[in-house]
Amino acid sequence: MCGIVGYIGDRVALPILLNGLKRLEYRGYDSAGVAILEDLPLVFKKKGKVAELEKHIGNQKLTGSIGIGHTRWATHGEPNDVNAHPHASMNGKFVIIHNGIIENYARLRERLEARGVTFKSQTDTEVLANLIEYIYEKGQVDAELAVRLALSKVIGAYGLVVMCVGEPDKLIAARKGSPLVIGVGNEEYFIASDATPIVEYTKSVIYLNDGDVAVIKKDQLVLKTMKNDSQSPVIQELSIDIGEIDKGGYDHFMLKEIFEQPRSIQDTFRGRVRSENNEIHLGGLYEVMPRLIESKRIIIIACGTSWHAGLVGEYLFEDFARVNVEVEYASEFRYRNPIINKDDVVIAISQSGETADTLAAIRLAKENGALVLGICNVVGSSIPRETHAGVYTHAGPEIGVASTKAFTCQVTVLAMMAISIGRSKGLIDDTNYRKLIQEFNQIPEKIGEILSQSGHIKQIADKYKNSTNSLYLGRGYLFPVALEGALKLKEISYIHAEGYPAAEMKHGPIALIDQNMPVVVVATKDSSYEKIVSNIQEVKARNGQVIAVVTKGDTIIRQMADYVFEIPETETVFTPLLSVIPLQLFSYYIAVMRGCNVDQPRNLAKSVTVE
Ligand code: AGP
Repeated sequence: MCGIVGYIGDRVALPILLNGLKRLEYRGYDSAGVAILEDLPLVFKKKGKVAELEKHIGNQKLTGSIGIGHTRWATHGEPNDVNAHPHASMNGKFVIIHNGIIENYARLRERLEARGVTFKSQTDTEVLANLIEYIYEKGQVDAELAVRLALSKVIGAYGLVVMCVGEPDKLIAARKGSPLVIGVGNEEYFIASDATPIVEYTKSVIYLNDGDVAVIKKDQLVLKTMKNDSQSPVIQELSIDIGEIDKGGYDHFMLKEIFEQPRSIQDTFRGRVRSENNEIHLGGLYEVMPRLIESKRIIIIACGTSWHAGLVGEYLFEDFARVNVEVEYASEFRYRNPIINKDDVVIAISQSGETADTLAAIRLAKENGALVLGICNVVGSSIPRETHAGVYTHAGPEIGVASTKAFTCQVTVLAMMAISIGRSKGLIDDTNYRKLIQEFNQIPEKIGEILSQSGHIKQIADKYKNSTNSLYLGRGYLFPVALEGALKLKEISYIHAEGYPAAEMKHGPIALIDQNMPVVVVATKDSSYEKIVSNIQEVKARNGQVIAVVTKGDTIIRQMADYVFEIPETETVFTPLLSVIPLQLFSYYIAVMRGCNVDQPRNLAKSVTVE
């Protein structure tokens, strides 16, 4: 999950590269480096964040207009200066940056060492740099052919950019499994792992596909396949604006994205939930809707927060569409030898559209003949290009590593899908359908009402910022919300938190309850309300601390719990959209009070493009 940038044109490359790396830092941030082509490539690389690299470069005057840069999330070799990218080949003829994993790097390294090649780092990327140079020198071939021949020997995933001293007027980019986007300027090109470093310079982009090799000069881009077949590059126009990738006055991207949710949910259902003529219309599914309606089973595959959204989807599809649903961790599904039938519908959920396990699960499902749909937030990313059809969440760029607005937009899409299918199957009458459509339109305002309580939530967070453990409980639609709340807390504050179905307490976790264990209970008014009231009483009977998310005006739980977060009343189907908001803010404030790096938590990266 590293970040890659490259530039070739007439501008001074260094500031473009550093600015781009800062915009990509959410993808990985344990070390960073740049290579600028002066007479020879000058390489600067440093453990730590991009700011450390800037200090390391200092006031050196670097005027080169061709360069590459990289911010790393370590896979092979610990985070340090030597293992940071870019990596130069042994004789210095090539300098490369790489996102992905070369799975057969050890074997390749052995064969190169047996031929006298020496190494400085423990990385797989340096093996690739030396393999390219070895072929270039021994085979007396040009840089492009050396790159293609070297990559033909590689097993694994890569998004890479290569600089060659002998051919200083070009950069060579190649992609297999790790994303690469090329921004098309006026006699200049910008290369990056995603569009965020490019959009301020140009909105015209080319998304590389697996197997693509691009030879880029400042005034010419030649696109080929690994087999050297020429291709016509497809130039697309970005729909994001520079303002969407700045903090916009918030302290952190995560806080901005939490507060963007009224708008991002509105953007997600705008034009799709049509109250004027009482219908839900998902254009991306129009062609496949008949298969969705007659499907006997839906398999949802995802990871992390997206998997929690999928779990909400299970309740939605069973409630409204009356269809069997399985929710699978993509990483388990892909290796479990699952039963996949031709009339199954597989729904892949992913914010980034680049999660390696989810992509692999998609390919497995397609091989078995299932209809594969995607719910994704990044236009042009791999998952939308590999699925048969799908629906974009219009959440806008989500930069904070902890997913927030993507989750609520994913649930919004799943709700639209489930209700739309249920309506098409004649399972939702006019009155209920109209009520659901009207409530959709109320959600952004209701979320705004919850966000206005952020001061209260911050006060409660202050009381629990020093906890060492926490339990999150919920039932029904709110069980996945409990899981999501626990994930938010642990991934940004490093407090261990566990989500559980509330009824499961008695089967083990209740042993954990004491006066030091905060228990967050998502307990809004629904069909299992009385049951969850009992669960709260069980916790209180053992001196547990209870923080409850309740429906506005609830007086019963208010008397039992130590603290409550109120959310406006809504239809049960929409309670996940509202009840998750206080939990997002609760985790955010605790993490800030603990001095954690909220937008770039330790060990994590925004897009898990490796297995
Ligand atoms: C959630 O806050 C995490 N950042 C992580 O679990 C994430 O949801 C997971 O890696 C899946 O990412 P995706 O939605 O981009 O596929």
